Amino acid sequence: MFGEQKVCFSGVQPSGNLTIGNYLGAIKNFAEFSQHYKTFYCVVDEHAITVRQNPAELRRRTYETLALYMACGLDPEKNTLYVQSMVHEHAELAWLLNCFTMFGELSRMTQFKDKSAKHSDNINAGLFTYPVLMAADILLFQTDVVPVGIDQKQHVELCRDIANRLNQIYPDLFTVPEPIMAKSGKKIMSLAEPTKKMSKSDENTNAVVYILDDKDTIIRKFKRAVTDSEAEIRFSEDKPGVSNLMTIYSCFTGNTYDEIEREFAGKGYGDFKLAVGEATADALAPVQARFAELMADKAGLEAQMKRGAEEASYYARRTLSKIQKKLGFVQIR
Ligand code: TRP
Repeated sequence: MFGEQKVCFSGVQPSGNLTIGNYLGAIKNFAEFSQHYKTFYCVVDEHAITVRQNPAELRRRTYETLALYMACGLDPEKNTLYVQSMVHEHAELAWLLNCFTMFGELSRMTQFKDKSAKHSDNINAGLFTYPVLMAADILLFQTDVVPVGIDQKQHVELCRDIANRLNQIYPDLFTVPEPIMAKSGKKIMSLAEPTKKMSKSDENTNAVVYILDDKDTIIRKFKRAVTDSEAEIRFSEDKPGVSNLMTIYSCFTGNTYDEIEREFAGKGYGDFKLAVGEATADALAPVQARFAELMADKAGLEAQMKRGAEEASYYARRTLSKIQKKLGFVQIR
């Protein structure tokens, strides 16, 4: 909370091409929050370097991620859109919070365990303290709500623990944030293994539909989507492939599962997959067109980065100096 205004914060990593899972599960819902909250949406480049990055690629993806935010409907007049590394208070607060976070807590983070298994040649301290940087992102803005995917819920819980711990020592220091899971499309699954989440880092690119895929690619990927041996379009736990396609179709068309079942009664999977592909491509077409326009105007994106960072810094400075004072750091004005 800043004054009377409730705050919403979320971050997306610039570490890969964003998928329709990121779009439906996160970014698409971000815009709605700006009606009721002061919203901050951050491209978290400092998080990205916990695994090795190619510098030119990281830079390009930072521009792209900001452009995608905007292309997906986030109006920079109504939301503070910015890049993490341009607001140095993130890293500074992360250090302070590190001193109030326990080794044992961080050791229990499932994402750390997964990532250190996957990148066993580079289990760096940043990978370990990543959730503390994420807590700093959130607490820096006295955030009330954090829209995240289910995989980030544990990190937001840790952030709450850290905030509560500090509030016990230094009363009223932080707003304790709530995680918010998306209502619809909360989890879009892989097209190849529909019991696994669709992941932008999946090596099988046929399993993943990217926001920037062209129409032919989208239709081809849906045609190959794994379903089951029945031929019935029905939403059911024992039909993860078909159910996932129904979720995607429902998100893009607004139709309910009942309506979809009726629409495709007596039709085969081929027809259904084509319809899902077309609905997806049609919904993404305006996003892609806007993205291309934004990317063609690099100076415009840079102006937005600058403006966003200035806006974010104003709030970040206020929180950081409040904490520094409470901790006993000398402050000379
Ligand atoms: N860790 C998040 C992810 O990988 C991204 C993120 C960084 C974030 N800081 C955040 C999300 C703060 C919400 C709030 O998806």
